[in-house]
Amino acid sequence: MSNYKEKVAEILGRSEAPPLCFVHSFGCQQNVSDGERILGILSEMGYGVTSDINSASLIIYNTCAVRENAENRVYGLVGELKHMKEQRPDLIIGLCGCMAQEEKTVQKVKSTYKQVDLIFGTHALSELPRLLYDVLTTRKFVCDTEEHSEPEKEINAVRSSSFKASVPIMYGCDNFCSYCIVPYVRGREKSRVPEAIIREVRELSEKGYKEIMLLGQNVNSYGKNLDRPINFAELLRRINEIKGDFKIRFMSPHPKDCTNELIDTIFECDKVCKHLHLPLQSGSDEILKKMNRRYTAEKYMEIVDHARSKDPGFSLTTDIIVGFPNETYDDFLKTLEIVKKVKYDNIYSFIYSKRTGTKAAEMTDMTSDEDKSKWMTELLQTQREISTEHYKRFLGRTLDVLFDGESRHEGMLSGKSDEFIIVEAPCSDKSIIGQRKKVKITKAYNWALCGEIV
Ligand code: 5AD
Ligand code: SF4
Repeated sequence: MSNYKEKVAEILGRSEAPPLCFVHSFGCQQNVSDGERILGILSEMGYGVTSDINSASLIIYNTCAVRENAENRVYGLVGELKHMKEQRPDLIIGLCGCMAQEEKTVQKVKSTYKQVDLIFGTHALSELPRLLYDVLTTRKFVCDTEEHSEPEKEINAVRSSSFKASVPIMYGCDNFCSYCIVPYVRGREKSRVPEAIIREVRELSEKGYKEIMLLGQNVNSYGKNLDRPINFAELLRRINEIKGDFKIRFMSPHPKDCTNELIDTIFECDKVCKHLHLPLQSGSDEILKKMNRRYTAEKYMEIVDHARSKDPGFSLTTDIIVGFPNETYDDFLKTLEIVKKVKYDNIYSFIYSKRTGTKAAEMTDMTSDEDKSKWMTELLQTQREISTEHYKRFLGRTLDVLFDGESRHEGMLSGKSDEFIIVEAPCSDKSIIGQRKKVKITKAYNWALCGEIV
């Protein structure tokens, strides 16, 4: 691989100024993290990084295939590049990520989006130098969706933030939830060895990073297949011991094997944020079964109850799918019941999107789109009422907040509390962005908290 890196660097070195690349990632944190690693590879070969697409000589869209609307957006954007490519034939356009891994995308791009020069799948990240070399030297369409024997993607990332960083701890997914395309496009579960993760976190801590997000599709199965098995709770404890002024988050655990040990570890480790994102998907046992989630609503509530027995105000967020094939209003009401019982601080809800190739895509669906939309509205309304009420528990309390930017509201800075809630505070000193401060909460809305920095 390094050979191709040098070859590409040599070609790029012939231009007067370093050529620029524009990489945009759609979808989940894992994809954003891949995007940062792609930028890492490109910079090592001599590309400068730009956020202005018009000045880029290489444009890469790192795509998401989880829902249809994410795919449509990508096709829309790639369509718009046709004109740019006509005016600048030297421009290289690449597609990668989950959509790029699917054969149907490759076919569609080949027939309809001829402006695209390069497609590489989720397993071909480290092949990028070779693929780019092929494009640069042949000017022909290059495509690689093979599964390469790549032990670990130990690639240095170019990170978009100087204080928040994502660290993948595992790749792929073995769960095959019936609605989900991820196992097909990201392949089988593979954990990074703890030593590599710890080294990366240590380096980030030394660089002054304040928040580290550990990423995996199902973090509780971390380490199971390693030569020297280790579980996720143990990994958390080991990362917690790394010196530095940083906090740890992780996404996402799967309720089917979320243990009390994991919950206890969150409470025991001072660096681990006191928040759990626990995807529910549905509150109906029948739908959960059809989703192949392998837990019941009761088992889910046991986890919640264990966390809340340690802290009655413990912060939870979740993912919910509305309108799985043949879901009835009664099923939906069971989801609503759990939402009301748990009192999440936030929910990420999605209308079911049919993904060709998954088990659920084969089910004939009698539930109307109209009903699905109506239920979604009902869910969002219910959650708004819950947040309004539930956020009030923070009034008068002082929370740790990592400020990450300016608010839409004049004179205010915005950040996230350890509980993963947006907190805003009046502050004219922008140097606070990137720092963790104590904020005394004075107001609670349904989307955020407000307070004074103390
Ligand atoms: N349709 C709708 N939502 C989906 N998700 C995954 N696949 C689908 C789909 N086919 C949601 C799940 C998952 C989140 C990342 O995306 O809620 O937790
Ligand atoms: Fe998809 Fe289920 Fe794997 Fe999550 S755990 S990525 S929803 S298959």
